Amino acid sequence: MSFDTTTLNQQMTHFDGHDSLWLFGYGSLIWKADFAYLERRPAHILGWARRFWQASHDHRGTPESPGRVATLIRAPGAACHGMAYRITPQTLKPLDVREKNGYLRVVTPLYFDDGARHEGLVYIAREDNAAFAGPEPEAALARRIASAHGPSGPNRDYLLNLASALRELGHDDPHIFALEERLLTGE
Ligand code: SIN
Repeated sequence: MSFDTTTLNQQMTHFDGHDSLWLFGYGSLIWKADFAYLERRPAHILGWARRFWQASHDHRGTPESPGRVATLIRAPGAACHGMAYRITPQTLKPLDVREKNGYLRVVTPLYFDDGARHEGLVYIAREDNAAFAGPEPEAALARRIASAHGPSGPNRDYLLNLASALRELGHDDPHIFALEERLLTGE
C-alpha cells in the first residue's frame, strides 16, 4: 500500500518567499543529490533516529515485493547525522515527487559542525503513513533488503551507499552498520 504525499507537501508554505532554505538529508538524500543545490554541509538534527522501517513500493521495491528505506523515529536525546543542502524553494517541487511515498516535510532546527543553527526542512515518513512498516527483526530486515529490487535499483545499493556515506562523514550508526554487516556476510 502507498499514499502519495505530494499534494500535502506542496500545500506547505513555510519557506515561501525565502531566497533559499536548508534541507536535511539522512537517507538517499545524503548520497544521491540529483537535485540543484547552492551548497552542502554536514549537519545533524536532534531527537530523531534513523531506521529502515519505511516500505518502498516505488523506488527500491514493488507493490508485490516492497523494499525498505530509511525514515526517522522520535528518539529523545539522540542526534541524527547527515548532509544539509541549501536549496531554493523551487527545488522542493521535484523533491516532493521523489519523496512522495509517505514522506512529509517537517520543519526542524539543523545544527552545523561550526556551531551554527538554522531552521530547515527534513522529509519524514511518520508512523501513521500507509507505507510505514515498523520494526522487524534485524535478520529478516536484512534478508528483505537483500532481495528487493525496484525502478531505482536494488534495495541493497541504498543501504550499502548509505553506510559508506555515513562512514565517510565519520559517523557511527549501529542500526545501519549492523544491517550492512548482515548484507555483506549473508547472515
Ligand atoms: C532522506 O534521505 O532524507 C529521506 C529519505 C530518502 O529519500 O531516502
